[in-house]
Amino acid sequence: MTRPLCQTAFLVLSAAVMDLIQARPLQAYRPGRPLSGEISVPGDKSISHRALMFGALAIGETRITGLLEGEDVLRTAAAMRALGASVQRQGSTWIVAGRGIGALIAPDDVLDMGNSGTAARLLCGILASHDIFSVMTGDASLRKRPMQRVIEPLLGCGAVFTARPGNRLPLAIQGARDALPLTYRLPVASAQVKSAILLAGLNARGVTEVEEPEPTRDHSENMLRHFGAKVTVSAHGKTRHIALTGQPELRGADIAVPGDPSSAAFPLVAGLLVPGSRLTLNGVGLNPLRTGLLETLREMGAALGIRDPRIQGGESIGDIVVEHTALKAVDVPAGRAPSMIDEYPILAVACANARGISRLRGLSELRVKESDRLTATAAMLQAGGVRVEIEGDDLIIHGTAQPEGGGRVATHMDHRLAMSALVFGQVTAAPMAIDDSSFIDTSFPNFVALMHQLGAGIGQP
Ligand code: S3P
Repeated sequence: MTRPLCQTAFLVLSAAVMDLIQARPLQAYRPGRPLSGEISVPGDKSISHRALMFGALAIGETRITGLLEGEDVLRTAAAMRALGASVQRQGSTWIVAGRGIGALIAPDDVLDMGNSGTAARLLCGILASHDIFSVMTGDASLRKRPMQRVIEPLLGCGAVFTARPGNRLPLAIQGARDALPLTYRLPVASAQVKSAILLAGLNARGVTEVEEPEPTRDHSENMLRHFGAKVTVSAHGKTRHIALTGQPELRGADIAVPGDPSSAAFPLVAGLLVPGSRLTLNGVGLNPLRTGLLETLREMGAALGIRDPRIQGGESIGDIVVEHTALKAVDVPAGRAPSMIDEYPILAVACANARGISRLRGLSELRVKESDRLTATAAMLQAGGVRVEIEGDDLIIHGTAQPEGGGRVATHMDHRLAMSALVFGQVTAAPMAIDDSSFIDTSFPNFVALMHQLGAGIGQP
C-alpha cells in the first residue's frame, strides 16, 4: 500500500522538526580570564561497560562505585537487565546480581544500544556463546557503524548472525549451543573486537586465543582476572598474545571505576590553551595503554604533572595538574593511535593553537567512530578558520596563535566532536557554535557544568 504524498511529506517534516526540537545548540567563547579549579571527571566508559557486563556473568554480587552514568553505559545496564541480571543503583553504588556464565536469558524485546559501539560489539561477543535468540539495534549513528569486524570472527564459535546489508545493525543473533573456542589475529587494532572474542570465549570449552599486532586497552583482560578468570598475556615485540581458559566461574567483585582519561582530555586541553590557567583533574585513569595523549602533549611542550600516582582496583590512577603552555606542533606516529584513539578531535584542537604544522598519522579507524571523525574533525577546525588537509589517513593542521573562530560545527551525533568544538571556542577570536550538544550525555553528562565551574565560556547561541 502506498502512502498519499501529503501524508509522507508531513511525516518527513515532523521528523525534521522533532530533530530540531531535540537538538541542543550551544556556543563557546573566550572566558576572558584563566580557567582554574579542581574537578573529578566522570567514570571511565570502557571500564563501566565491562563492570556491568562481567558482573552480570558472575555468580554473586558485584558492587561498582564511580560508574559512569552516561547514556551509553545506561544502555548496557538496561541490556544486562533484559538478559536476566539484576542491576540496581543504591545511593552512589551500583549493584549487579549476576546469573553466571551461560545462564543469561533471552530478552523479550529488541536490545537498543543507543549510540554505543562498545556496548554493541562487546554484547555481540556475550550473545554469540549463549544459546539464546536476540535482536540488537542502535541510533542512527550506531546503525551506520561496521559490525562485520565482530560478526566475522564470532561466526567461528557457532553463532548465526543476520544483519542488514553491509553488516549494519539491526542485527539478529542466534547464539551457539556449544560454543567453540576461537583463535583469532586482529586485522585492526581494536579493543572492542578483542573483548568481543574474549567474552565469547568465556562460555566456550577450551582456550580462546587472540593475537593483537598493536597493544590496545587491556581493561577486559585486567577485569576478567579480577573476577577470577585465567587470562595469560605474552608479548613478542609489539604483538600481544592473549589466552583465556573457557568456562571459568566468575565471582562477583568490587570495582572502583577511575575517572575517564578520554573525558579528562577536554578540560585538560582547555587548561593548556587558555592563557594563565591552572587546573587539577582528580583520580584520572592512567592505564599505560590509554596515555598516548599525555605523551603527545608533553612532546608539544605541555606543562603536565601527575600528583599522587596510585593503584585503584588494579588500574593506575593519579591527579593530573595542568598549566597553560604555549604549545608547539607535533608529528604523531600511527603506532600511537590505539593508546589515544578517542583523543584525536581534542588533540587536533590543541594542534590548531600550536606553533607550526602538525601531522597526525594513520587515522583510518577514526572514519568508523560515532561519526567519520577524520572528516568531521577537519571540518570543525576549518569552521574556525584553521587550515587543515587530509592526506590519505593523515590529518595535517596548520597551527595559529589566534584561530579566528566564528563558525558553526556540525557534530554528527558525536559527543567528542561536540566537546572538542566547545573547548576550541575557548580560544578562538569569535565564538564557535555547535548544532547539537545532546550527545555529550553519552559519555560526560556534567561536561558543561564542570567547564563552567572552571570558568569556561559556554552558553546559548
Ligand atoms: C573502546 C575501544 C575503542 C574506543 C571506544 C572504547 C573499548 O574502540 O574507541 O571508545 O571500550 O574497548 P576500538 O577498540 O574499536 O578502537
